[in-house]
Amino acid sequence: MSAMQKMVGWIDDRFPLTSNWKAHLSEYYAPKNFNFWYYFGSLALLVLVNQIVTGIFLTMNYKPDAKLAFASVEYIMRDVEWGWLIRYMHSVGASMFFVVVYLHMFRGLIYGSYRKPRELVWIFGMMIYLALMAEAFMGYLLPWGQMSFWGAQVIISLFGAIPYIGDALSLWIRGDFVVSDATLNRFFAFHVIALPLVLLGLVVAHIIALHEVGSNNPEGIEIKKHKDPVTHFPLDGIPFHPYYTVKDIVGVVVFLMVFSAIIFFAPEMGGWFLEPDNFIPANPFKTPEHITPLWYFTPFYAILRAIPNKLLGVMSMGASVVIMFFLPWLDRSKVKSIRYRGTLYKLILTLFVISFIGLGYVGTKEPTPTFTLIARVLSVIYFAFFILMPWYTAIDKTKPVPERIPE
Ligand code: HEM
Repeated sequence: MSAMQKMVGWIDDRFPLTSNWKAHLSEYYAPKNFNFWYYFGSLALLVLVNQIVTGIFLTMNYKPDAKLAFASVEYIMRDVEWGWLIRYMHSVGASMFFVVVYLHMFRGLIYGSYRKPRELVWIFGMMIYLALMAEAFMGYLLPWGQMSFWGAQVIISLFGAIPYIGDALSLWIRGDFVVSDATLNRFFAFHVIALPLVLLGLVVAHIIALHEVGSNNPEGIEIKKHKDPVTHFPLDGIPFHPYYTVKDIVGVVVFLMVFSAIIFFAPEMGGWFLEPDNFIPANPFKTPEHITPLWYFTPFYAILRAIPNKLLGVMSMGASVVIMFFLPWLDRSKVKSIRYRGTLYKLILTLFVISFIGLGYVGTKEPTPTFTLIARVLSVIYFAFFILMPWYTAIDKTKPVPERIPE
């Protein structure tokens, strides 16, 4: 027995190392047909680690004080050794987190990964998405630029639309009558410790839930239905390690190429990843000409602005996110994967994608009458996708699904 085996044996007697390695990697059987869309889960993990590590280093020089915050970020960018790189890895990383997570969620949509028995995988995913939105929103206040300040001001004051408790609630969130040092301090606390802890916990729960039921795949066929009579491993599965650990490296390499190209050549992405107004220190006496959140929030911001009544607007914006939780119970189709769905579903899904991207675009623009009209039409399509789902998925002409994953 080698020294290595002895050491592992020693650990195994005290901690379930080998059994966990087997259960989650070397003997976790994943469907053999994972494609491009299955890279984004591991990429989301990579970006999460990137955000935590670069965040720790930023915290070493950032000052959570309304008088010092903006200057401390400039100090990181100009004087701290490699500070510019750490900061761009974090700010570009935030946008890339949403790119990766949106693609990851879209995969769930096209392959019906949220369907039975993976409802909880989806629910944990949605909770991650909510926590991620809160994390990004609070992080954006920290550089204390014009858009940090006014963005937070607009969003927090939305809570004021809630009857009876609204004003008290927004005062409670801010800790002051306007966004101030008190707000900055609490957002810092949430951004650097409270929400990252929640996110990590939810990601662990997400993966435990997934490994309990097993992964879906592009065919939407349950591989656990056909197992080897001797080994009891799924016939259409392959061990996650080494097959997918190695395959995921391909995704990581391509991702890092894109990620570094943005960091080194266009870290602001023409104002999409870092807004021009945020290079101006926060000024409570001067409102920027148009206040827009970063691109990953604009679809929901467009829904908010599409509705003239403030309370209804806030409720619709909330509903547009919350409704996604119910997807597992809205979809009545006999099949999971888009590969076996009919033309009706494909058409409606295309309209949904157009509405989401369109709302995202309109959300960055000034609300002229034309853009408001477009936002209204797109909002109707967005909600129709979910509300009418029990109907159109039930009447959609699906194709028969094979028992086993085709070669
Ligand atoms: C920090 C964010 C997230 C991380 C690190 C993460 C991680 C992962 C990983 C590693 C997998 C397995 C690999 C894969 O199937 O790609 C997975 C699967 C899955 N995730 Fe996530 N996820 C995140 C966010 C989300 C969100 C926001 C949703 C949806 C609301 C979601 C829904 C799903 C579903 C449905 C699956 C199963 C897919 C299948 O088997 O076809 N995840 N996730």
